[in-house]
Amino acid sequence: MSVAMEDAVPANSALTFRTMHKTDLKQIMNIEVQAYTHPWTTSIFRDCLRLHRCWVAEQNESIVGYAVLMMAPGESHVLNLCVKPDQQRKGTGRELLRLTMRESEKAGVDMILLEVRRSNQSAIDLYQSEGFHELGVRKNYYPAHSGREDAIIFAKYLG
Ligand SMILES: CC(C)(COP(=O)(O)OP(=O)(O)OC[C@H]1O[C@@H](n2cnc3c(N)ncnc32)[C@H](O)[C@@H]1OP(=O)(O)O)[C@@H](O)C(=O)NCCC(=O)NCCS
Repeated sequence: MSVAMEDAVPANSALTFRTMHKTDLKQIMNIEVQAYTHPWTTSIFRDCLRLHRCWVAEQNESIVGYAVLMMAPGESHVLNLCVKPDQQRKGTGRELLRLTMRESEKAGVDMILLEVRRSNQSAIDLYQSEGFHELGVRKNYYPAHSGREDAIIFAKYLG
């Protein structure tokens, strides 16, 4: 089922968005292992497809990014937001993030949350530029190359 995206007008008009399917997981895992030092596994994505809202961004029929959003009463949580490394810095991440915000608003959610590694400055810049603010820190939340790394919790109140 494709998501009704009539109201989504991405900056790059060749970019389209649709619901993620199981058949996308090969392409998604290929991006996931390139983009993250500690990638999710296929089975995590399978669970997300059952439990959460998942979308892909496509260009020329290839997946260039994806987002996973957990809905809960009153709040939503971006669990994954990722753009293929060779397609980054073209506005796709921002459009995917805006998609999660629109879908959260449609669902009547008051607040959207996410966690980000303290060292992930490009993602932090993106979230701050979209109106997210720091809510707190989860100490040693993520595995890192040596030891652990803090997660910063970002939140945005939705109108
Ligand atoms: C974070 C991520 C999703 C951003 O996606 P993207 O498509 O590259 O981002 P956009 O082109 O939409 O850029 C949006 C803003 O993010 C920030 N940004 C993105 N990449 C950046 C970089 N390499 N350096 C500095 N700022 C950057 C900028 O503020 C940018 O706005 P600007 O272009 O107007 O300056 C992408 O870098 C990514 O997939 N990273 C690996 C996975 C990851 O870390 N996900 C986030 C987990 S919390």
